[in-house]
Amino acid sequence: MSTYNTLKGVHDIVPPDVFVWNKIERTARDLFYIFGYDEIKIPVIESTEIFTRSIGQSTDIVGKEMYTFTDKGGRSITLRPEGTAPVVRCYVENALNRRPAPQKFYYMGPMFRYERPQKGRLRQFYQIGAECFAAAGPESDADMLFLINNFFEKLKVPHLRLEINSIGCKVCRPAYNAALSMFFSQKEEFLCGDCKTRLTKNPLRILDCKVESCCVLRNGSPLIIDFLCEHCKSHHDRLRELLYNLGISFDDNPLIVRGLDYYTRTTFEFTTEHLGAQKAVAAGGRYDSLVEEFGGPATPAIGFALGMERLVELMKLFEPHTNAPFFYFAVLGEEPLNIALSLAIRLMDKNISSTCGEWKISLKSHMKRASSLNAKYAVMLGTEEIQKGMATWKRLSDGTQDEINIHDVAAFTKLYEQGRA
Ligand code: HAM
Repeated sequence: MSTYNTLKGVHDIVPPDVFVWNKIERTARDLFYIFGYDEIKIPVIESTEIFTRSIGQSTDIVGKEMYTFTDKGGRSITLRPEGTAPVVRCYVENALNRRPAPQKFYYMGPMFRYERPQKGRLRQFYQIGAECFAAAGPESDADMLFLINNFFEKLKVPHLRLEINSIGCKVCRPAYNAALSMFFSQKEEFLCGDCKTRLTKNPLRILDCKVESCCVLRNGSPLIIDFLCEHCKSHHDRLRELLYNLGISFDDNPLIVRGLDYYTRTTFEFTTEHLGAQKAVAAGGRYDSLVEEFGGPATPAIGFALGMERLVELMKLFEPHTNAPFFYFAVLGEEPLNIALSLAIRLMDKNISSTCGEWKISLKSHMKRASSLNAKYAVMLGTEEIQKGMATWKRLSDGTQDEINIHDVAAFTKLYEQGRA
């Protein structure tokens, strides 16, 4: 038992998770580059108002979950619970709208929400997020969904389901909110305390409530799709058509209203059945008014963020990830160690990982070490092998063995390629 532990809902990220983590980040960076997104680094702390104004007073994030404190100068500061509002602040403050449209940015880093910790729900968690500005048409929505889909395909993440919805705009949402208000007023006495407040402040939020009794009350509630104005409807129809054309499968889910108030029109979530209650691995949507609300020019935008911890858990379920060396050199003597080290350097040059054991230990100890490191091949190298110029390799998974020329890097490379196939 250590003297100090991490805080509740906060985790260290250690091997083997960190290998999966780095693979996700590498894949994301490569893909963002191809799709024309530039990285931005935003602060972890911001003025509280940035979040209260954008995410909305009636949301759980602002109402219950923000880490807010007053600094020594008497300012109200908040640890960012999400990245979109700070990115919009950054976009306006740095006049990034002057760059050629559409302006595309991505970010990676920790977010903080004072939630009740459970599997997949943390108080400090990491997101990779992307925001695309000056992007009005449904083509931008499709482009973003295509990017995310592509990303999960590259990582070979199985069984994600894309659910989409439209939550309308300033023109059509008031009528929908009024209809929801009327519907839930008749059931007010059965709503949870929070939803009673939501009924007057923001009835749309009731659709997002996780309390079971409220979930049941939603049966038969009015559907947003019946209230969309002409523009929102044609945007949504076109997006659905584009997704069909791109071969991206999706489900319509009228309950995807998202837990943040800044959204307009398209909302979406990528969900899984493999992580228990916390199903959303990535989520996002369109927010066409936020830039203007932050003092910038009217700029339609769309974005998403994925939860790193959830994605790492999901990937680990389907593929064991380790940083195991490909070759383990079981060296028996000082001279064999020197030969193995120079061979290892030449292999590293070809991106082939290898490691050398200590030269003073027995062959038996070497073999134990190679298997505990999960190496693919052990290469036995003693003075006799050096004289012959040939060493014996052994595949640890099935005990197959053969000889290899210790000066022939190409032969090692071939073995590596065979072993990876
Ligand atoms: P969000 O749905 O709040 O959206 O979070 C996005 C993802 O972050 C979730 O789908 C989930 O995977 C992960 N996540 C959220 N909360 C937690 C938590 N407490 N513990 C672990 N993972 C969590 C946003 O944050 C928006 N800013 C997304 C966006 C970008 N919309 C437009 N642009």
